[in-house]
Amino acid sequence: MLNDPVLVHDWHVVALGSELQEGKTMAVRLLEEDLVLWRVRGKICAWQDLCVHRGTRLSLGKVESETLACPYHGWVYNQDGQCIRYPAHPSQRPSERARVKVYQAREQYGWIWVCLGEPANDIPLFPQWDDASYRKVHCGPYTYKASAPRAIENFLDITHFPFVHQSYLGDPAHTEVNDYQVEIHEDGITASNITVWQPDPDGSGQGAHVSYTYHVYRPLTAGFVKSSAGPHFAMFFTITPVAPHLSHAWAYVAVDYNNLTESAIQEYQNLITMQDVPIVESQRPELLPLDLQAELHLRSDRTAIAYRKWLSQLGLSFGTA
Ligand code: FES
Ligand code: CO
Repeated sequence: MLNDPVLVHDWHVVALGSELQEGKTMAVRLLEEDLVLWRVRGKICAWQDLCVHRGTRLSLGKVESETLACPYHGWVYNQDGQCIRYPAHPSQRPSERARVKVYQAREQYGWIWVCLGEPANDIPLFPQWDDASYRKVHCGPYTYKASAPRAIENFLDITHFPFVHQSYLGDPAHTEVNDYQVEIHEDGITASNITVWQPDPDGSGQGAHVSYTYHVYRPLTAGFVKSSAGPHFAMFFTITPVAPHLSHAWAYVAVDYNNLTESAIQEYQNLITMQDVPIVESQRPELLPLDLQAELHLRSDRTAIAYRKWLSQLGLSFGTA
């Protein structure tokens, strides 16, 4: 699954931008590859975390005057990943081959995104990001010992609310879901106007019917906007496939109302996610079955059905073929 070209040539979040400080290294993992991150004058370097001399982790090394030095024999690499000095032979010019594998990295939405291949798409648009009427609150990362598409499908799933998120996002006395529309288009999936009842959709303490519209932007990035009579609550959600059964979720909540503090929003999301995690981790098979015959579906599962179809159309198999 993890060497699938669609994932290799896509952008994935690996860190919070604020956590990567100048002068420091950071070790992260993406698609089973260990990476070292470091910054030079704001520019982000994302390299294979491996010195080409003896395979030592460069993330254990030292950042000094715009270079990164290996902790083992001190080879010094410039910001392009080229070794420029062998300390044991200071006058010998390092070989062209003494170069680490360098990946593309970008900082957007306060996160560091890395692409291990040639980016086939831009980083998905987070529609509320530039809209000043929305407050943006970062949540996560959350770890799921589960495959990334299982976690995305959980994010897209509405009928679990009265059960997994009872008294938060749903109520066992109001379980019915309307027949809603789902469209698969070139850039993803839109599921519109899914109406459910919630005990307290906007922190005001009042129960109300709310309407969700979901967008799947990339195989592992999605979002929704929830609206009730007045306020809007939006969420942008992206999953990092770390290993076949290990994923990290990064989220932004965007709200156009002010009665909740940033930490109240984060605590609420932490709680909701901690309710989801054991469910998702329990699912078998671990890899999302893209063969629609493999599991049973209801009308209300049409977002998940569209998600599985779209992944198949993109040529992803997630190892389930
Ligand atoms: Fe990095 Fe020797 S292993 S310098
Ligand atoms: Co949930």
